[in-house]
Amino acid sequence: MAGTSIGLTTPRAPNARSRLVRLRWSFILFLVLGLTISSEIYIFEGLRQTWFFSLKPISIMRNLIVLSVAASVLGQTPGDTFYPPTLNDTSYISNSSIGTYGGIYKAPTNGPTGGNPYGTYDYCSMPHPRSEEYELPKALTNGSAEGKLVYLEYLQRHQRRTPYNILPGGENQEYHCDNVRPYLYAGPNSASGIQPMPMYAQTYQDPSNPFVPDVNGTCQYPQITIGGVQDGYQHGKDLWSVYGKKLGLIPAKPNNRVWFRSSESPLTQASAGAVLRGMWPHYKGALPLHQMASSVDTVNEGYSCSAVSSTLSSLQSTTQWNEHLTVTEELRSKLGAMLGATDSSWQNTFDHFSDNFQGRLCNGYELPCSLTNSSACVTTEMAEEVFRAGDWEWNYYWRTNPDVVKYIQVVEGLFIGEIISRLQAVLDGKSSLDYSHTFIHDGDIGPILGSLGIEALRWPAMASNVAFEVWETKDKKGAKSFYARVLYSGHPIRSIHGLLDWVPLSKLIDIMSPYVPEDIISLCG
Ligand SMILES: *[C@@H]1O[C@H](CO)[C@@H](O)[C@H](O)[C@H]1NC(C)=O
Ligand SMILES: *[C@@H]1O[C@H](CO)[C@@H](O)[C@H](O)[C@H]1NC(C)=O
Ligand SMILES: *[C@@H]1O[C@H](CO)[C@@H](O)[C@H](O)[C@H]1NC(C)=O
Ligand SMILES: *[C@@H]1O[C@H](CO)[C@@H](O)[C@H](O)[C@H]1NC(C)=O
Ligand SMILES: *[C@@H]1O[C@H](CO)[C@@H](O)[C@H](O)[C@H]1NC(C)=O
Repeated sequence: MAGTSIGLTTPRAPNARSRLVRLRWSFILFLVLGLTISSEIYIFEGLRQTWFFSLKPISIMRNLIVLSVAASVLGQTPGDTFYPPTLNDTSYISNSSIGTYGGIYKAPTNGPTGGNPYGTYDYCSMPHPRSEEYELPKALTNGSAEGKLVYLEYLQRHQRRTPYNILPGGENQEYHCDNVRPYLYAGPNSASGIQPMPMYAQTYQDPSNPFVPDVNGTCQYPQITIGGVQDGYQHGKDLWSVYGKKLGLIPAKPNNRVWFRSSESPLTQASAGAVLRGMWPHYKGALPLHQMASSVDTVNEGYSCSAVSSTLSSLQSTTQWNEHLTVTEELRSKLGAMLGATDSSWQNTFDHFSDNFQGRLCNGYELPCSLTNSSACVTTEMAEEVFRAGDWEWNYYWRTNPDVVKYIQVVEGLFIGEIISRLQAVLDGKSSLDYSHTFIHDGDIGPILGSLGIEALRWPAMASNVAFEVWETKDKKGAKSFYARVLYSGHPIRSIHGLLDWVPLSKLIDIMSPYVPEDIISLCG
């Protein structure tokens, strides 16, 4: 249905715009091909054979550099879609000609999916490091240093799922989850003990139950969907191709220098199973997924802290916050009336509308219609404004609100401190790990990106990911140093501290440290 297709094209002039996009990319391709023929061929030398390796530029990298130069001359690169320059302004919400700012909000029921061109902000499945695009740090490819990757701290949001927020009057469509099996079973901690039956959750509706659910079908809200599982598997395969096969950091099978953690949520746990199977398709056996007790968890707002809600309500009473509600008054009242969503939980932020629409569009469903008038439906244009308002809110929460440092400290400061101590251990030569992977939520990725000073923060979408790479280098005299590179969804983060492509590890620690509270117990009150 054309009315709900939200992607690279704008609703106003879809044909003209998409032709332009095609032309632009074929022009770039032409440029790249032309330059490849005349460029020198470079090779990797001993990439995985030696402890320290020296690198020379390879032609592929040259192409990517040319590509980004060419694309930036002609307009937006895929990476630019992450950084709308006017996101801090409420006109970003009200200006309908911005559309989705190049972002993609649509995926079929079955995955895996990935933005086209790859690297574009894609709400349903954010890009991640893949061997096709992965570039080594320039400091290594230009011959000024030699080095090796010694540590990877990888964080990701879970994969795509059904929504948390069901419309108050009910949904005008059914949701089906028979195509996915959320496993749940327990056994003793030994392969020689009882091996349990691999049970999975099968949600069903019983017509004799007098209570009628607000949405018909066979899903829980939220739950991971089949597309999410398939995206996760691809995500793991791609991480293996870069950090295992190419860079030799991730071992061929799990060992005691890899470590996994999730929140208490089945969403993050299910993502872990899919991603790690993509990484190690033939591994037999189980792996520990570390979790803190949920009452004190340092991710997903586990511990209770009244300063979280008090800081939130103070930042939601500023002039800027109120201005974003004013410019969206008409939109909120139209959606409220159409969908029966007039109470404050739907009207005070864009969280619920965004979540509801994203859950539909990312799993092969359409935008909702009124239950009482099937021709009154949410339009593409309305959904795009909802998504722009959601992006504005995330940028405000984690970048521009007047209490931002305190807000990040109380919500995520302890976890940021944990990341720093793992990085510090590498710097001190005392790390017991090579690779740590944590499966978390948008509400964790947002403040972490805020602590890194990301230039603009759109809502950290499904499977959005941060890769902290630590490289050990050796100069010509043999002196060792540690450098860090931070990739957000596959590309070095554009930050107020500059591009985080090659910074001394100690400097990265300095950038994040102000967000670690000295005394969280007293800060929480
Ligand atoms: C964001 O906009 C507000 C005004 O609405 C301004 O006070 C603030 O400095 C801006 N912040 C950034 C980081 O641009
Ligand atoms: C709306 O956004 C477009 C870019 O998409 C820009 O050219 C235009 O100036 C903006 N209009 C206003 C009123 O901010
Ligand atoms: C190589 O790249 C690094 C990092 O961008 C830079 O500091 C260095 O000056 C470059 N060296 C040469 C020889 O271009
Ligand atoms: C759910 O299905 C029942 C039985 O088919 C139907 O009467 C009801 O209207 C449906 N509810 C919704 C919210 O679609
Ligand atoms: C149903 O919605 C359509 C589209 O918004 C509108 O034109 C029509 O008047 C509505 N019908 C009723 C009975 O409210």
